[in-house]
Amino acid sequence: MNAQVEQKIRQTNQRYLGKFVGKEIPSRLEQQLLQMDWSYPDYMHGGRQKRGMFEPLRATELSEIENRREEFRTVGIEALRAGKVGAILLAGGQGTRLGFDKAKGMYNIGITKNLYIFEQLIENLMQVKDEAGVWIPLYIMTSEKNDKQTRDFFAEHHYFGYNEDYIRFFVQEMVPAVDFEGNILMESQDSLAMSPNGNGGWFQSMLRAGLGEDLDEKGIEWLNVFAVDNVLQRIADPIFIGATILSGCASGAKVVRKISPYEKVGAMCLEDGKPSIVEYYELTSEMAEATDDKGTLLYGFGVILNYLFRVEQLRKIAVKKLPVHIVEKKVPYLDEAGCLQKPSEPNAYKFETLILDMIYMMDNCLPFEVEREKEFAPIKNAVGTDSVESARELLKINGVMV
Ligand code: UTP
Repeated sequence: MNAQVEQKIRQTNQRYLGKFVGKEIPSRLEQQLLQMDWSYPDYMHGGRQKRGMFEPLRATELSEIENRREEFRTVGIEALRAGKVGAILLAGGQGTRLGFDKAKGMYNIGITKNLYIFEQLIENLMQVKDEAGVWIPLYIMTSEKNDKQTRDFFAEHHYFGYNEDYIRFFVQEMVPAVDFEGNILMESQDSLAMSPNGNGGWFQSMLRAGLGEDLDEKGIEWLNVFAVDNVLQRIADPIFIGATILSGCASGAKVVRKISPYEKVGAMCLEDGKPSIVEYYELTSEMAEATDDKGTLLYGFGVILNYLFRVEQLRKIAVKKLPVHIVEKKVPYLDEAGCLQKPSEPNAYKFETLILDMIYMMDNCLPFEVEREKEFAPIKNAVGTDSVESARELLKINGVMV
């Protein structure tokens, strides 16, 4: 075994890897250990980097958007027609809360007919394609775990009517998971339990996949990044694009009014004077409940993971490191006897970077309010809040047959 790897295993007293010390180690496993970031114990014990000073940031609200609708729309449509806008579907997550063993987008949410999550998202994008009269380049980020099934699924369904020449797939990076004591987990005799590295690395992954040149060749200046699980969102929304371009900001974030001061969503704010996102657990109750003289919550605009980024600025920040977040997940692993365990409760930490931290790195950001009932139907869980059931109801209210 590589001497450095062996030393690390010893130093960190690894429960599942200790048996390889002084012995032959499968080469795939050795490679993974050589490539992994061994600073994870620092993340485990150090927590998240210190945040700056938070202040409220007002959003462009619905009434203002309504007044300037045509102006925004004209600019947005122009940008789309000029081929300056691409869309990025983040589909590399594992969707562990939903408990579906394939890519989340392959989940069938239909009752009276088949309606796959991917299908509904393509339908939403198609509406803008029809409105603008041009195909919008769509880049789909997958992970090593779901790349093949996702590509095959799209091919089998003829890209749900989208022009496949405008669709490109790319794969995100993977990171190992550790148990709550810091022991690196293995998923098989020759592999660590690797999982996707969060949704913050999407631009680096795109560049690594050689898609930076593709953006240049196509002349794409703006990227609309969106989550796989919000089936109601408008994608490449001309009004949002126009408003962001006219604001002069390098990024935009679609936001909804929180349903309560303590709703578990990140809220737009200023951090040390720059637009940023404060996580719900970082808000003190005083901040969470603070209102302006009209009674509007000062930290009351929650992000829905639909952002617009100026490519030029993305390239500038691509070299910067994003903060690492610790996320608790259910991760199957081989126990000391070599038996595969499938935990029913979170048993491991994953180390992820998150797209919301990119906002602070952009020079500025336009928070852009959208109507919750019309644009926010996330599918995180099988039942209850933010579930298949609640999304179906919202789709029906918006006239989509499920
Ligand atoms: P979530 O935060 O809901 O994570 O992702 P998840 O892994 O899909 O689901 P759970 O927490 O295990 O239930 C928000 C968006 O970011 C994407 C997801 O696919 C989703 O669109 N994502 C998340 C990635 O593309 N890669 C990741 O590593 C994580």
